[in-house]
Amino acid sequence: MTISVQNLVKRKVPGTFLAIVNARVYPMTVDAQPVAADTIVCDGGRIVFVGPRVAASLDGAQIVDARGGAVVPGLIDAHTHFVFAGDRVGEFRQKSEGATYEAIAKQGGGIWKTVLATRKASEEELVALAVPRLEAMRARGVTTVECKGGYGLDLANERKMLRAAREAGRRAGLHVVTTFLALHTFPKDAAGSRADYVHESLHWLEALHGEGLVDGADVFVETSAFLADDARATAKVAKRLGLPLRLHVDQLSAGRGAALCAELAALSADHLEHMAAGDAELLAKHDVVAGLVPWASLYVGRGAKPPIAALRAAGVKMMVATDFNPGSAPVCDLLAAAALSVGYLGLTVDEALLGITRHAAQALGLGDRGVIKEGAVADLVVLDHPDAARAIYELGRSPIRALLHSGNPTAVS
Ligand code: NIG
Ligand code: FE
Repeated sequence: MTISVQNLVKRKVPGTFLAIVNARVYPMTVDAQPVAADTIVCDGGRIVFVGPRVAASLDGAQIVDARGGAVVPGLIDAHTHFVFAGDRVGEFRQKSEGATYEAIAKQGGGIWKTVLATRKASEEELVALAVPRLEAMRARGVTTVECKGGYGLDLANERKMLRAAREAGRRAGLHVVTTFLALHTFPKDAAGSRADYVHESLHWLEALHGEGLVDGADVFVETSAFLADDARATAKVAKRLGLPLRLHVDQLSAGRGAALCAELAALSADHLEHMAAGDAELLAKHDVVAGLVPWASLYVGRGAKPPIAALRAAGVKMMVATDFNPGSAPVCDLLAAAALSVGYLGLTVDEALLGITRHAAQALGLGDRGVIKEGAVADLVVLDHPDAARAIYELGRSPIRALLHSGNPTAVS
C-alpha cells in the first residue's frame, strides 16, 4: 500500500509501522556521505531497519516514497534562546549605525531590555510567542531544539521561562531540551552584590531541577557578565544534580573560556570567536564539542571568528546552531545558520551537515538521535533533492518533502 504523506498526516497514528523507500540515506554515523541503503523502517517511534528494500519485510507497513530524495536525521538546534518577549529591532538599527553590543547593554539595552519584557509577559503569552518560532524551525527540518532561560533572572521568572519552553515544545511537536542560564547578566535591580546573586542562582538551579524543568546548565562567561569561578560554582552544583554543562565562552573577549570548558568537562563550548587557538587541543582531549553560532559571530563579532582551522586540525567536533535570540542572532533558521557556517566561518559542507545532526546531538548529550541507525529515534527529514547539501545551499524555499517526528509524519509548511 502506498499512501501519500498528506493522508498519513491526517491519520496521525502514533507508533506507525512505516517505511521510507527509494531514499538516498545519509546516516551521519561515520561521515556526511550517503550509504548503499534505500529503505528505512520505523516502528514504535524508533528506527528498526536501515538497508536495501529487498532485505526489509514491509508487509503492513505504510510507505513514504522518498522518490530518490536524500534522507537525513531530524535536525538539532543545540543552542537557542527561543523563549522571550518583545524585540530589539531598535538596537538592530543602532548597531547598523556603529553602536556596539556592549555599549547598548551599558545604556540599559541588550539582554536587560529583553529581561524586562519577558518578566512582564505571562507564561501563556510566552508560549504563544514561542510556538510560531518552533513551527518555523520545524518547517526547516528541526525536530530537537535546546532552549535557555536567562531572561527572567529571578526564581519565578526563570521558572516561567523554562515551563513555557517545555509547553511550547509540546504544542509545536518538537523535542525541547532546557538549559538553566540565570548567570546571563547581572540584574540591574538585584538587591545584593554580584556574589550574592551567583550564590542565590545556585539555589534556583536546585529548585528548578527538582521541578523537572532543567536538562543542563549554562553561564555567560565574559568580562561584562560572569567569571570563570562563577561557572565553576555552577558546575559543582550541576555535577551533584547530574546535569551537563554548555557554556557561553570567548564571545566578546579572549578569556580562555575554551580551556575552562575542558576543565569542567562541559558538553559544549559555545561562541569561541575569541578563543585561543592553542586551546583546541584541550577541547579535543576532553571531547568538548565546539558550538558555532555563525549569526551571532556575524552580528556582534566585528570580524572575530572561531579558529576553525585549529579546531579541525585538533579533531574537535563542531556543532552549528542558530543561537536564536532577539539580540545577537534574531534568526530561527538552522539551515541558514549551517549555510553561514560554510560561507562565513569556513566549514566544509560535510562539517556543517554533521554540525546540525550528530555533533549537535552530542552537544546535548543525546545518543539516540542525530543519526540514522537501528534503535535511534525515528526523527527523519526527506529532502526534495538527492544531495543533502541542497538543504543548506539554496535558501528560502523549503527543501523538505516529508518530516517524521518519532516515526509520525508531520505537516511542514
Ligand atoms: O548567545 N551572549 C549572551 N547571550 C546571547 C545573547 C542574548 C541577547 O542578546 O539577548 C548570545 O549571544
Ligand atoms: Fe546564546
